Amino acid sequence: MCVSSQVLSTMRIKSAVLYLSKIWYLATGLLISLTGVASAQTEIIPVLTRQNAVVLQVTPAKQVTMIYLGKKLAREQDYSLVQAQYKKGSDISGIFNSAYTPSGSRNLVEPAISVTHADGNPSLNLEYVSHYTKQIDNGISLTGIILKDPVYAFEVTLFYKAYYNEDVLEQWAVIKHREKGKVILQKYASANLYLQGSNFWLKQYHGNWAREMQPEEAQLTHGIKVIDTKLGTRANLYEPSAFMVSVGKPATEDEGQVLYGAVEWSGNFKIDLELDALDNLRVIAGINNYASAYELKAAEEFATPALLYTFSATGKGNASRQLQRWARKYRILDGQGSRLTLLNNWEATKFNFDETKLKELIHDTKKLGVDLFLLDDGWFGNQYPRNNDKTGLGDWQENKQKLPNGIGTIIQQATREGVKFGIWVEPEMVNPKSQLYSRHPDWVVKQPQRPEQYQRNQLVLDLSNPKVQDFVFSIVDTLFSKYPQLAYIKWDCNAVIFNAYSNYQKQQSNFYVGYVRGLYRVWERIRAKYPKVPMMLCSGGGARVDYAALKYFTEFWPSDNTDPLERIFLQWEYSYFYPAIASANHVTDWGKQPLKYRVDVAMMGKLGFDIAVNKLSATDLKFCQDALLAYKTVQHTIWHGDQYRLVDPWENNIASVMYMDSTRSNGVVFNYLVRNRYGSASQLPVRFKGLDATKSYRIQEINLYPGAKPALKDQILSGDFLMEVGFNPIVTVARTSVVLKITDTAVK
Ligand code: DGJ
Repeated sequence: MCVSSQVLSTMRIKSAVLYLSKIWYLATGLLISLTGVASAQTEIIPVLTRQNAVVLQVTPAKQVTMIYLGKKLAREQDYSLVQAQYKKGSDISGIFNSAYTPSGSRNLVEPAISVTHADGNPSLNLEYVSHYTKQIDNGISLTGIILKDPVYAFEVTLFYKAYYNEDVLEQWAVIKHREKGKVILQKYASANLYLQGSNFWLKQYHGNWAREMQPEEAQLTHGIKVIDTKLGTRANLYEPSAFMVSVGKPATEDEGQVLYGAVEWSGNFKIDLELDALDNLRVIAGINNYASAYELKAAEEFATPALLYTFSATGKGNASRQLQRWARKYRILDGQGSRLTLLNNWEATKFNFDETKLKELIHDTKKLGVDLFLLDDGWFGNQYPRNNDKTGLGDWQENKQKLPNGIGTIIQQATREGVKFGIWVEPEMVNPKSQLYSRHPDWVVKQPQRPEQYQRNQLVLDLSNPKVQDFVFSIVDTLFSKYPQLAYIKWDCNAVIFNAYSNYQKQQSNFYVGYVRGLYRVWERIRAKYPKVPMMLCSGGGARVDYAALKYFTEFWPSDNTDPLERIFLQWEYSYFYPAIASANHVTDWGKQPLKYRVDVAMMGKLGFDIAVNKLSATDLKFCQDALLAYKTVQHTIWHGDQYRLVDPWENNIASVMYMDSTRSNGVVFNYLVRNRYGSASQLPVRFKGLDATKSYRIQEINLYPGAKPALKDQILSGDFLMEVGFNPIVTVARTSVVLKITDTAVK
């Protein structure tokens, strides 16, 4: 069935239709439920995707409520019967399940929106006015629900963008008013969801440098659980906005109901999870209103960022694949394209390099067999040379001592060697020891009367200021204008915002929002002029990745922690929300694992190297060169295929992760030993997923270290066997990392 016929079939149960309403009557301390008949108009607004439904209902009091979020029902008319089936008690406000809970009127729980009107009045009521659903692209519909305050000239439109085939929704709100004066938005969430069930389990993440994406899963108790950040930039350093809620019991990979959500915002966010008096879960997510009461002028529109969410009735694996498919198709820059393998110099040289060294590294890039050389931090600054992380940030001119002939000569060398060239920048930041700081102290975020507070010896530039936006844009624009061959940018960000204060903003509480919007303006301009050049979203590790930023970036840097053992866990957790094509994984000298293990782990994404190639033994070099050739044969499947998390490293001695292409013909399975106790090995077969049971597949071990005796012969097994019984990759202490290529035998 086509999307339009489904989504446009909004059901109206007009006044001719009688409906049952429950009237709760409070007498002598007892709640007595009476079933009555009323004749007001009620409206059901279903937002449908291929498998799921989010259903809203307008109450007789014109309140828009969320009555259903889950697997789509077979008959659309049944949604009008849903609410009567819940007998969990009384909601004295009548709007626990509001689709966008206002504050200061009848509501008594956590609001989605809270305002102070131009006349100082803090109350808000939002009544249904109208709604529409339209098809905005093939497979994408947009539902808008207009709400108005009956007393004040204040209006909110709720938007639900449904990606039908991917089962993904984006939801946001647009707020405006025509009051005489400014309205202060005290809180302005993107979305307000309502889940009805018996109990709810939250999986959330916390982190720190080199310890990003640390998971925790726990049952939600009554009251409000908040996931948020107030860091300003690089939100993930504390907590990412990605979360999941299982209904009833924690979902597993293949079983259980689970909702995944993430706020599309690269700054302070807040997610309130409130278990209400009816034991239902209210989820309110959006920009963090911390220190961010927003002054809204009359007729100005405030569009919140979107909350992205997907629901799966068949476990976490399916939810991840839904989100990953959506991300590749609709969000990540060039998500359906290819990626460049590279050699980065950060781990090998840090700030210590010069022209001669870089030319050697270009040569090593060629020798290794990757596509691109990526020059990292340390190439700029003259009065304050960037020879360590204390100076130079902000002065984006080539350092004359290290690069007397500029970057151009390095690029020429790269062109001669037949490799591409990319460069590192960190344009949002400034070291106090820099010319930029001396010239434009007013561009720096800091409290005028307090001592400066640094992270990594640096401060953040005030991107809410259009002049700073121009400057930041010009850094990238100048590089591209001077060096049109530039083929890659690594965009770093290594400080949070301390002492938040903007010299530009008249209203300080508009700053945090202004910063992120300013950053997006810069990225918009870069992408308008340079639409395709790959850019890595980096932030002193994985402290910044979200689906607003990934519109402009081809990949992100999950962590500075490249110890492959740690990476198995980190990449595992990221994979719940992000596809492998976006995960920049570099082979480095971190960790104690053998080179093969390090390379195999980095292959589960966008492969890169950050090692001293000239220090590799001949066999190690040969292994890397061969691995790059092997990677070429499986990269399409890793980047664009469906991912299956087969064996969980948190619970087992081994980890297994599988990728399978959409034709179910080509796959690859990565297996690792993650615990080294006596007898640790793959004792059980690993059951594959996503195969065609009727096909025969060749299983072949690839990426063997030169000279290693193969423990596995090539075998042909049926899809049925591989999924029901499985296959033992023979992971042992002697074979800690095993990569299996799967090929449909019918494919020539
Ligand atoms: C932090 C990044 O995560 C590293 O990869 C490297 O680029 C350094 N910054 C450079 O300062």
